[in-house]
Amino acid sequence: MDAPSIEEATGLLEQARVVAGRAYAPYSNFRVGAVAVTDSGDRFEGANVENAAHPSALCAEASATGAAISSGARRISTMAVISLDVQGVVPCGQCRQRMAEFGVEWIVLESPGGPEIVTLQDLLPRSFEYWE
Ligand code: THU
Repeated sequence: MDAPSIEEATGLLEQARVVAGRAYAPYSNFRVGAVAVTDSGDRFEGANVENAAHPSALCAEASATGAAISSGARRISTMAVISLDVQGVVPCGQCRQRMAEFGVEWIVLESPGGPEIVTLQDLLPRSFEYWE
């Protein structure tokens, strides 16, 4: 898939910002929103969802991936992610691996000059693959 245009990336970050406003993050106060774009162009939203048992927190990217996959999608091309509390948040290691499973190529991040588009390959070279 082609990389998102700057206009599309800007729109994705704006949408992700709205989603971040719905995060449930009473423990970290670190609100994150993500938008997953499938290969067919559909968008799925996710926010982080924390829990009193802290390791049970669900990342925004995991939420968005779950929404996309639960809808029947199997390939995600782009993931946009933003935090309301820190500029330039990048996906955690576990989410990088999770995104690799579904073919994510492009990650849209917030940077001071506007959207920054990086590849998952840059963030996670030599991702783990399973085969039998
Ligand atoms: N978090 C995300 O939602 N995405 C990331 O890429 C990094 C971390 C969430 C998990 C937790 O609710 C909070 O941010 C602090 O780690």
